[in-house]
Amino acid sequence: MPINLVSIGYFLHSFANTPPMRQIFILSLLFSYCLIYAQPSGRANFDASWRFNLGDVSGAQEPVFSDKDWRGLDLPHDWSIEGAFSPDNPATNSGGSLPGGIGWYRKKFTVSDPLPGRKYFIEFDGVYMNSTVWVNGHLMGTRPYGYATFQYDISKYLQQGDNVIAVRVDNSKQPNSRWYSGSGIYRHVWLIQTPEIHFEEYGTYFTTKAVTAQEATVHAQATILNETNQPVSIEIKVHIYDAGGAVVGEEKQTKQVNANSNITASQDLKISSPHLWYVEHPYLYKAVTEIYKDNVLLQTYTNNIGIRYFHFDADKGFSLNGKSMKILGVCNHHDLGCLGSAINDRAIERQLQILKNMGCNAIRTSHNPPAPELLDLCDKMGFLVIDEAFDCWNIPKTKYDFHLYFHKWHTIELTDMVRRDRSHPSVILWSIGNEIPEQGAPDGGTIARRLTRIAHRNDPTRLVTSAMSSPKFANTTGYAKALDVAGINYKTGMYDAQKKKYPKRLFISSEATSAVASRGVYHMPAAKLIYKTPDLQCSAYDNCWVPWGNSAEDAWVAVKKRDFMSGLFVWTGFDYLGEPTPYNYPAHTSYFGIIDLCGFPKDPFYMYQSQWTNEPVLHILPHWNWKTGDTIDVLAFTNCDEVKLYLNGQPVGTRSFANTDKIHLSWQVPYTPGTLKAEGYKNGMLIKTDEVKTAGAPAQIQLIPDTTLIHANGTDLCFVTVKVTDANGIMVPNADQLIHFDVEGAGKIAGVDNGNSISLEPHKANQRKAFNGMCLVVIQSDGKPGSIKLKATSDGLAARDLSLRAQ
Ligand code: GAL
Repeated sequence: MPINLVSIGYFLHSFANTPPMRQIFILSLLFSYCLIYAQPSGRANFDASWRFNLGDVSGAQEPVFSDKDWRGLDLPHDWSIEGAFSPDNPATNSGGSLPGGIGWYRKKFTVSDPLPGRKYFIEFDGVYMNSTVWVNGHLMGTRPYGYATFQYDISKYLQQGDNVIAVRVDNSKQPNSRWYSGSGIYRHVWLIQTPEIHFEEYGTYFTTKAVTAQEATVHAQATILNETNQPVSIEIKVHIYDAGGAVVGEEKQTKQVNANSNITASQDLKISSPHLWYVEHPYLYKAVTEIYKDNVLLQTYTNNIGIRYFHFDADKGFSLNGKSMKILGVCNHHDLGCLGSAINDRAIERQLQILKNMGCNAIRTSHNPPAPELLDLCDKMGFLVIDEAFDCWNIPKTKYDFHLYFHKWHTIELTDMVRRDRSHPSVILWSIGNEIPEQGAPDGGTIARRLTRIAHRNDPTRLVTSAMSSPKFANTTGYAKALDVAGINYKTGMYDAQKKKYPKRLFISSEATSAVASRGVYHMPAAKLIYKTPDLQCSAYDNCWVPWGNSAEDAWVAVKKRDFMSGLFVWTGFDYLGEPTPYNYPAHTSYFGIIDLCGFPKDPFYMYQSQWTNEPVLHILPHWNWKTGDTIDVLAFTNCDEVKLYLNGQPVGTRSFANTDKIHLSWQVPYTPGTLKAEGYKNGMLIKTDEVKTAGAPAQIQLIPDTTLIHANGTDLCFVTVKVTDANGIMVPNADQLIHFDVEGAGKIAGVDNGNSISLEPHKANQRKAFNGMCLVVIQSDGKPGSIKLKATSDGLAARDLSLRAQ
């Protein structure tokens, strides 16, 4: 079948507008097509139909090994999240109190025609950790770093007909992380086939070279390998398509490539009247690079690119496309709550949607390279990214962490991260490490300079940062000086002194806040720091934070007030498994999130929303179920000028922001049951109201799905919020009923949760207790189209049904 540019352009355009899950499906189809018709090249999703065994096995790498008793599953997979919480698990509660261990994966696959003259590669987006891969019994290699994307050339080891790939994953030596890592092949796997003349891994690279309103220059670079024994002459063509699928830029050039060597070719493409990539309007072009030989298309590679430029100014902070803006970011770890660390595109997209709604415009991938899909979504949805490489260098933070491998692997890991991610418009900074103990060590400066050089060599267009916990020491070792942007973690009190001492330095709050909160928990007085309480929960009044951190309000105001601080990254956007500061077991999930592990906002979410968006925001807290006679601290997070509060229709008081540095309003209200209502005014006009009502006895279940239609692709998800309410539909704020879930039809339960950091209930289950009135059930497509029925029941509550569709 002839391939022509028009059909490729059309395909790419429709492909760009296709949901990610469907893209994977199309790619798989395309790849099977490639296999059958020997088309030039392809990249096929390789997640389906693996077999898994928990525990070490001898000889499982051999093709003849019988895995018939192993469990069948599709990747991505995390075996730790399927285990039971225990104080005895060596990960400790900092690692989530879940089991690690050794696991094996095997997959049989058929290659109809592994032709001589063709290349085959297997690519893993991430395996935690210490993975060893064999193809047909031949050892391909071992990769210790659990967050690395890596590839093996398997061409020589494939045979016509049946083939077996085996992967041993060793996460037995623990603790090796300060947070929950998950275990297994937890990201996607790809099978890639190419001709012998092909792009190098991460071989295409696009950056914005110059921009005016009339014209942008996009710099395109491609590294091409000639693995034949003949010198060849090839043609490299680059086409850029706008979002409507029209070609807006094209260039081609001819290059000679010697036998068994590579070349890097660069071209500049001019695009007139460019649409720029902004966080509010993340306009993406599609760049298609092709290799031709004798007018025959050999390989095509596609990048989503954004045209944008940015600048850090020592006094004025950050600007994107010439417009000043604050970087309003959050740090996140990679787990997805009850799904564990097994990546799921929809789950990441949902997290980003929730953050976008809060006004967040940036993500720090703490403290490791992310799944590639996160960056695709950041490009598409408009988030700036600090892409971070390491949490430690040679000095350990936990006994078995990456310090064991840093010396041997750091160049490869950092180079691969930068080369993999350097065409993403969302990425603005490379971070060479988080709170690296070498900041204050004699070799700190030397290593920092070396890592910075590696990042610059592979991408001269971005700046390098590191999240420093000890700027004071880092200033003495040359560590801070080695960075382009000084990342300061916490230490708001040092901002002005650092600026004074280093007036030309660029600053960012790479990590801020570390306030801790449990959704729906309120410890009074709201105006006083209350750190640890016997309930092992943390107060959501923004009156609980760690000794090295600040309240959400103070950390943000410190950055807001200073133009030279280009932005901040709040620790953290979402709660994560592990690091349950300030408590010990049974606490095992973090309290740091602005949003809990289910994706339910805690109250300070609205503080950020009121400050970071232009939407009218008014949110009052706490709930309204107390003891008559108690005096209750009431807070409002709002961007109105003035708020009037009424209890059962009677005025309680009016508060405004005049004469205060605070960004919240507060009242003390003697409690009587009923309705507490707030009216928000701007310039004297009523623009927003909010109210809380006293709930009666628990009576019924409410199911609130985030969608009623999912893709029937085996991976798409519906997140169902479950509330326990009284007879009038008001959520009961302390309800903790056990809710059972039954699913029939084309779906299954992917996980359950309630956001309670001390709950030891399993995440893979068909029941969950409510925590402060709410829990979550996640329904996943089983791959078939059809209807899905969810039934929720609980003793003493009216049951509830929900109908969904997969198509
Ligand atoms: C920081 C560290 C983060 C997290 C946080 C908790 O110092 O960089 O990884 O541990 O503390 O407050």
